[in-house]
Amino acid sequence: MIVVGAGSAGFNAAISAKMAGAKVVLFEKAAYTGGNSMLAAGGINAVGTPQQKKKGIEDKVEWYYEDAMKGGRYQNDPKLVQILAEESADAVKWLESLGANLDDLKRSGGARVERTHRPSGGASVGPHIVDTLRKAAKERDVDVRLNSRIEKIVLNDDKSVAGVVVHGRHSGYNMVAADSVVLATGGYGMNKEMIAYYRPTMKDMTSSNNVTATGDGVLLAKEIGASMTDIDWVQAHPTIGKDSRILISETVRGVGAIMVNTDGERFIDELTTRDRASDAILKQKDQYAWLVFDEQLVAKKKMVRGYDHLGMLSKGNTIEELAKITGMSKLPKTAGDYNKYQAAGKDDAFGRDDMPLNLTKPPFYAVKVAPGIHHTMGGVAVDTDANVLNLQSWKMSGLFAAGEVTGGLHGFNRLGGNAIADTVVFGRIAGENAAKHALEKK
Ligand code: FUM
Repeated sequence: MIVVGAGSAGFNAAISAKMAGAKVVLFEKAAYTGGNSMLAAGGINAVGTPQQKKKGIEDKVEWYYEDAMKGGRYQNDPKLVQILAEESADAVKWLESLGANLDDLKRSGGARVERTHRPSGGASVGPHIVDTLRKAAKERDVDVRLNSRIEKIVLNDDKSVAGVVVHGRHSGYNMVAADSVVLATGGYGMNKEMIAYYRPTMKDMTSSNNVTATGDGVLLAKEIGASMTDIDWVQAHPTIGKDSRILISETVRGVGAIMVNTDGERFIDELTTRDRASDAILKQKDQYAWLVFDEQLVAKKKMVRGYDHLGMLSKGNTIEELAKITGMSKLPKTAGDYNKYQAAGKDDAFGRDDMPLNLTKPPFYAVKVAPGIHHTMGGVAVDTDANVLNLQSWKMSGLFAAGEVTGGLHGFNRLGGNAIADTVVFGRIAGENAAKHALEKK
């Protein structure tokens, strides 16, 4: 069997398939593995893990389900969401069994409790998970071919999968026969033409995505008659560093940052969902905002030091100094009010229900942010076994898909921490079912 794309979904599929006894080749068009997963900054959502128990966090599969559905404006496929919630704890356990450390917990926007699992000690989640998967694949002798772009999925006369045509940068065109193919090619957030076609209002937006996210799987599947779900639904992440492609992780707000406009005034509950936060920023003057925090947050969130090294942070020894440097005249009053709400445990202005930090410890920092393309929720139509569906909603025999290439799971808006969860849960399902299909053909 063949897996197309070596990000988290592809690796999880390939490793699971190999463990199920299939002969697997994992093709990656880039000269490196990791795809968009390598840039993941949030973490992996899961409910009922030992990490949550240790921190005394009460959580339920129903709550995870409800949060994801509400975040997706109830446009999600409920069956896929149920599986995601039910299998999430096992996904964390599986990654840990492969060597990952996911001991830290954070709260992401739209989640009612802390369920975003991350490496302890401040390591970035994407590189850590990808590194774990790379090693696990190597240890299990998964055959990984780089610089290998899939040009076409080839079908038999009965429309079942016959294999793929692959273009190797150094080996040219070859037909590779396979009984199962798993598409794990990621989204189309870096394909300008597809964005302009499906979501013209976002065509000039920056994107946080890896250059590899060019929608290849959608195009390959469409060409052979696959159906698409919500293909035009694209998520703008509210906090991409302004005029850059650097994602300022939602967990910065989760840990305690406030978000203000160019005058220094708050304008929304910082922990709302991404679609609402992005819309709210686009209604502010000059369509950008600032995240503001202090040294307490920097001490807790090492990732922020990276933004500093990139020269993205403005810094002041007092909140007044920061206000002067950034031109946010109302910031001192906003910070004073926020500190009162934080002390009282009640945000009278916007109803933010989790305010872990106040703004009292110098130096004080601000980073300019604006919405940018982050996730394409729509994609190839799949069922709960990761089978790709055709226009009649029938299974396309031997064709599977997982991760951002698929549509349906996240509805209108994906919650932070649900992308990696998606890639692990459905990557494994796709890999196991593709392996089963291939082995039954023998
Ligand atoms: O903002 C973030 O940390 C992004 C996380 C995610 O997309 O899941």
